[in-house]
Amino acid sequence: MAPSVLSATAETGSFRRPRRPRNDICQYDDLVGEWWRPDGEFAALHWLARARSQLVPPSPSPERLLVDVGCGGGILGAYMQGYLHVGVDLTQSALEIAAARGVVPVRADAAALPLATGVAHVVVAGEVFEHVANLEAAVAEVSRVLRHGGVVVVDTISATRRARLALVALGEWLPGGPPRRIHDPKLFVAPARLVDLFARHGVELRVGGLRPSVVDYLRFLVRRDRAVRMLPSRSVAGVYQGVGHKQRL
Ligand SMILES: C[S@@+](CC[C@H](N)C(=O)[O-])C[C@H]1O[C@@H](n2cnc3c(N)ncnc32)[C@H](O)[C@@H]1O
Repeated sequence: MAPSVLSATAETGSFRRPRRPRNDICQYDDLVGEWWRPDGEFAALHWLARARSQLVPPSPSPERLLVDVGCGGGILGAYMQGYLHVGVDLTQSALEIAAARGVVPVRADAAALPLATGVAHVVVAGEVFEHVANLEAAVAEVSRVLRHGGVVVVDTISATRRARLALVALGEWLPGGPPRRIHDPKLFVAPARLVDLFARHGVELRVGGLRPSVVDYLRFLVRRDRAVRMLPSRSVAGVYQGVGHKQRL
């Protein structure tokens, strides 16, 4: 992490960060001061985390294990309680932020989770599949650590021209859009492919599209004082969510 970047963020609310290749993991170190700024570079991650949390079933016991793959700064924890929340991520600086918010941090690649088979009641993978080089291995690992009857909740970005326009060409320049160069659109994930990969591991995934509320987004543009609701969309050509159960034995 770069202290000069952090202080620039705190003092001015905006900062210049190094120009890095698309999807370079070091960008999350550059952006470490942004995780919990609701109107900052990761604003949309807060909107998405809230929508994601609504797909997670309530936990009957705080001992139930929720594994948050690619947890980043642990934003999901703000919208969801009741679980033992274990966060897995490659970025140490993000894990430190998550740990300070009550997430149990595990530094690892989504494609090789250092967790026992069938240990998790819920596995969440929010806005991470579009960043991983080995999607097949990541889906296999998410499915492996999930217990039979357990729930998986995911959201990611569709491999479409519309998503490239909305979330890269245009979106990276819009307030509330993704940080510049954070995505490599070559890694965007077709919904049918994700459904197929999960099906190979006994998880039947149902997907649905998401879009920001236009009214909320216009208000965010003007006032930046309130989160934007993510609403169901008939189209899965942009951001989409998936929820599935692992077959019982
Ligand atoms: C867009 S952020 C999403 C963070 C969090 N899920 C959220 O929605 O707030 C993507 C996160 O995935 C992590 N990541 C990227 N590739 C990864 C990999 N192969 N294994 C584990 N984490 C990864 C990054 O470090 C980053 O924290």
